[in-house]
Amino acid sequence: MDLKNKHLVLGLTGGIACYKAAELCRLLVKQGATVQVVMTAAAERFITPVTMQALSGRTVYSSQWDAREPNNMPHINLGREADAIVIAPCSADFMARLVQGQSDELLSLMCLARPIERVPLLLAPAMNREMWAHPATQRNMAQLQRDGTTILGVGSGEQACGETGDGRMLEPAELVHDLIAFFQPKLLAGQHVLVTAGPTYEAIDPVRGITNRSSGKMGFAVARAAQEAGAQVTLVAGPVALPTPRGVTRIDVRSARQMFDATLAQATQATIFIATAAVADWRPVAEAEHKIKKDGSGAAPQLAFTENPDILATVAQSPRARSGELLCVGFAAESQDLLAHAQAKLERKGVPLIVGNIGPAAFGQDDNALLLVSADGARELPRASKLELARALVQTCAQMLRRPS
Ligand code: C5P
Repeated sequence: MDLKNKHLVLGLTGGIACYKAAELCRLLVKQGATVQVVMTAAAERFITPVTMQALSGRTVYSSQWDAREPNNMPHINLGREADAIVIAPCSADFMARLVQGQSDELLSLMCLARPIERVPLLLAPAMNREMWAHPATQRNMAQLQRDGTTILGVGSGEQACGETGDGRMLEPAELVHDLIAFFQPKLLAGQHVLVTAGPTYEAIDPVRGITNRSSGKMGFAVARAAQEAGAQVTLVAGPVALPTPRGVTRIDVRSARQMFDATLAQATQATIFIATAAVADWRPVAEAEHKIKKDGSGAAPQLAFTENPDILATVAQSPRARSGELLCVGFAAESQDLLAHAQAKLERKGVPLIVGNIGPAAFGQDDNALLLVSADGARELPRASKLELARALVQTCAQMLRRPS
């Protein structure tokens, strides 16, 4: 329910992507938003107000002369009630009209009449690729951005006209993600956040290996929360089956040594490093070239192990981390004595913040409980979704950046 207590005006303009606006409306409501739909006459040629009324649970507005409002001013009332106006799909024509401040029907009139400082306007353009690439549209988009409008997208791919290229409206789930991100405070604007996530896989032979039960969900949530907070985010991921959070650069690795190399290379640019990965402590000394076979004697193969490099401790020792240019945060997955282990790790890793959690209760789950341990003491973050916890962690990082120890 990331849009709880948000009231949105969802504006539809003429375009085949109107069929996606139905799903968008449903997803917004599912996230807890109240949605008031406003449609232009052209939008009503593509999808009926009946559909949008059923999905939003509110009657649709489409005329500036709508007499339902006691003061007969829907263009004033609807905009003032909203936390944001989202036009999806937004046609090339509607963009042009917004640029000029035209206002001869309800939706454009409402956009013009909205309190511009308080009610943000977000557009999800949808049009043929030639229309999108046309200098007129690009000019209009630049002007709209200068006027404070947020442009969501566009997507690329197959178009209704049979052509392929830029100009598709983003998918409803992508738009919902971008809207949720839009409402998050930009606590990490200008920061570059590097996150490691997931398990590592240490090969024994070409078909076997050693790994652990980390799902990567906490690290992926941290990457998403940092991106929502306005940071540029790089995610170094071990072998996990999770989609890349929107707007995040992902580097896939398998072994601890690959994760070490990728992370150290990225750490030269980062300002915050959050090590959520459950890195294997040991790896087999050598990977057998071929599958190790049973020899019939009943004897098990003898595996020798060697320790993996400690990524977090290495990054924390780098000159940039030591000078305070790079804030390092570690995780501690324990099965008992969380506070004592986390405090010991704070020392051992040389980092200002360790995030403790009980491994068996965290691995693979969608929620978790965290213990933030620093030199100042310990603070519990009670059980919540990993995304909520990640947002709280982002907040803590932002505070630490403002008050370097
Ligand atoms: O040493 P331990 O595994 O208990 O420490 C956990 C923290 O250190 C986590 O943040 C983990 O990502 C990081 N770590 C690492 N490289 C290792 C082992 C752990 O970065 N080889």
